[in-house]
Amino acid sequence: MSPKKEIVFITTNENKVKEIQDLANAEAKNITIEHLGYDYPELQLEEIESVAKESADYIREKRAIKKPFFIEDSGLLIHALNGFPGPFSAFVFDKIGNEGILKLMSDKKGEERKATFKTVVAFCESAKNAPILFVGTAEGKIAEKIRGKGGFGYDPIFEFEGTGKTFAELSTTEKNKISHRGRAFRKLLDFL
Ligand code: IMP
Repeated sequence: MSPKKEIVFITTNENKVKEIQDLANAEAKNITIEHLGYDYPELQLEEIESVAKESADYIREKRAIKKPFFIEDSGLLIHALNGFPGPFSAFVFDKIGNEGILKLMSDKKGEERKATFKTVVAFCESAKNAPILFVGTAEGKIAEKIRGKGGFGYDPIFEFEGTGKTFAELSTTEKNKISHRGRAFRKLLDFL
């Protein structure tokens, strides 16, 4: 049996760690994920891809990490708001939260409530290698009200298409099967 490959997931978000560990335990027996809570500066750029790439480049320039590593950046893109909050999702969540998003959407009906959740994973085999990006998306709509006790962030207002359930109404394992993060991370696993 070949030895397990060790990769480091760099994030200060424990919820993301929980999801990635759950998925790796279930689907990636030959990979061990280590967690490093290194707090890198997140640039405010217009594309989530650019934020993920620049963050990974920042980390490898600092040479802080000796093993293969990845970071990820995620965002909620509301179609009727031209993709807002997108790369500004963390800032907007901190300022207005889910209640604020529901207020912004109060005059939007049916198709106008469509939204996409997106994760971009940036993986570096070593500090010498430029990041490789893996993108995962999940389609859904902004719920009429906050629903569910699980998950984190925008999960209680993101209703996954065709299920009638918000991500916060799913278990971690159920969310991983269909989520933006699960899809992006699976692409990394396929690559590895
Ligand atoms: P970031 O990827 O940490 O920059 O996340 C941007 C914002 O989106 C933060 O407010 C997160 O809480 C939120 N967020 C990221 N991933 C998810 C998710 O899977 N579900 C719900 N909210 C998320």
